[in-house]
Amino acid sequence: MTGPILDGFENFKAIDKSNMINFSVDSAKRYLEAAKLAEKIKVAFPKPDNIIVSGMGGSAIGGDLLKDWARNKTAVPIEVNREYDLPKYAGKKSLVFITSYSGDTEESLGAFLDALKRKCMIFCVSSGGALLENSERLKVPYLQIPSGMPPRAALPYLFVPLLLGMEKWGLVSDASEELSEALPLLEKLSKDNSLEKPAKENFAKTLALNIGKTSPVIYGFGFYRGVAERFKQEFNENSKVPAKWEVFSELNHNEIVGWERAGELGKCFSAIFIRDKEEPTEIRSRIEITKELVGKAGVGIFEVAAQGKSHLAKMLSTICIGDFTSIYLALLHGVDPTPVKTITYLKDTLKENGVKEKIIGKLAKL
Ligand code: F6R
Repeated sequence: MTGPILDGFENFKAIDKSNMINFSVDSAKRYLEAAKLAEKIKVAFPKPDNIIVSGMGGSAIGGDLLKDWARNKTAVPIEVNREYDLPKYAGKKSLVFITSYSGDTEESLGAFLDALKRKCMIFCVSSGGALLENSERLKVPYLQIPSGMPPRAALPYLFVPLLLGMEKWGLVSDASEELSEALPLLEKLSKDNSLEKPAKENFAKTLALNIGKTSPVIYGFGFYRGVAERFKQEFNENSKVPAKWEVFSELNHNEIVGWERAGELGKCFSAIFIRDKEEPTEIRSRIEITKELVGKAGVGIFEVAAQGKSHLAKMLSTICIGDFTSIYLALLHGVDPTPVKTITYLKDTLKENGVKEKIIGKLAKL
């Protein structure tokens, strides 16, 4: 006899009102679309002394991924900036990406204003808002990306243009090749972790069931630093749970001591270790010892194994699992993954202080 698979996720259509899961299911398609959009980048920049990616939240994480991925590929330093202004060294020889999905985030507009004043080389990535209005008016090069998504679901459009832009400007190589390897892998992972797949055959559902009511702690290393951060952000915004992230080997120099006196709190956490079959031996030993130490504190211990060959494919495949898991964790607890009421409330309340309007006013005078 066949019937619905009762694994705790069956009521998803009623809960996932805006169909957030579709963004994960379609991720390969969206990365491909983002790559096609990036082909529209026609502007050329001379070799910069440094690169700054300025954005917030879902619009900044692509900068972290770029920095991690490019660490061993370019001699140009990359910084991710999450401030209203730019670091003191920013100047004419800095290439500044302003990434804001809405184009209306006040910190990003502030950084844009600062980059204009300092005559940096600027490239904006956004779906619209004051950022694109002013880019158009001031003839700042930009790429317009599709609107109507939660910013975190627009990661392909916010990340790929940076990656392929860097390749186009001769600052890195292999970006297109590594992206091509990632796409079929993402397609496969999306199928393997789809809603139709029952929990016993579905890694992300199983991980969400194991996390249950605990708070996820994600441990990354090396080029999985931004990936660990992305997991944390997705657990916050999709599942609406507190989460944190740390990286090896730094976490071996402080974090592990904190578990000594966790007491009853230990059971409230799940540690998720990002693993890679090619992880450096020194990191492998650290992970194994840390699993033991953290496990002793009563923390649930789980692993997510990266898939793929290239760094980019490994990073994106791991993110794909994290995105699915965070959505399943939401569904499991009857929570709609899409709305981020608290961020909306905060942004609305902040409007009263008029900071954004002041920045827009200053932009208008340029
Ligand atoms: C992610 C999200 C936030 C925004 C952030 C910045 O889905 O809602 O993290 O990304 O508040 O806003 P944007 O991306 O519009 O610049």
